[in-house]
Amino acid sequence: MTFTKILGEPVLSEEELRVRKIKDGTVIDHITAGHALVVLRMLGIDGREGNVLSTVINVPSHQMGRKDIVKIEDRELRPSEVDRIALISPNATINIVRDFVVADKKRVSLPETIVNIVKCSNPMCVSNSKEPVSPQLHVVQREPLLLRCHYCGTILQKEDVLKQF
Ligand code: CTP
Ligand code: ZN
Repeated sequence: MTFTKILGEPVLSEEELRVRKIKDGTVIDHITAGHALVVLRMLGIDGREGNVLSTVINVPSHQMGRKDIVKIEDRELRPSEVDRIALISPNATINIVRDFVVADKKRVSLPETIVNIVKCSNPMCVSNSKEPVSPQLHVVQREPLLLRCHYCGTILQKEDVLKQF
C-alpha cells in the first residue's frame, strides 16, 4: 500500500489487489457470494477452453456485504449465454472489457421462460421421459426464485436449480 502511494498511483481497493484488471474479455461482477463456481458451471466453462480465468469468492463489497467476481479473458460472453445466471445471482453485472476499458455493462436479466437449461424435478414429468420434450420452466417469482414446469406444474426453488449444476 505504501509502495503505491510513493509512486503516486491511486490506492488500490482490496478487490483490485486480489485480481488485477484485464485487457480484453468479460467480467461478471456482483455475483451472489459463494456462487462463482456454480456460475462457471452454468456457463459451461471449466478451464479447458484455454482462456485465462480469475475468480474471487466471498470478497467484501460495499453494496452487497460480500460478493464473487469471475473474469474470463479474451472472450466476450453474449447476453443469451449469461442471462441464465440470473436464476441464482439476480444482481450480477456483465462487463465487456476492451483494451482495459469497460465498453459495455449490463445487469443479467431473466427471461420469462427458461428452455433447456434447468430440468423439472418431477421424475415422472414428460420432459424427463424418453419423449423428445425439452424442459421448459416459467418464472413465477424472481427473488426468492420460483419456477413452474410448463408440463406438470411442479414448482422449483433456487436450491433445486443449484443441485443441477
Ligand atoms: N474490470 C477489470 N478490468 C478492466 C476494467 C474493469 O477487471 N480493465 C473489472 C473491475 O475490477 C470491476 C468490473 O470490471 O470488477 C467493473 O468495472 P467498473 O465498471 O470500472 O467498476 P465499478 O464502477 O465499480 O462497477 P459497478 O458500477 O458495476 O459496481
Ligand atoms: Zn415437469
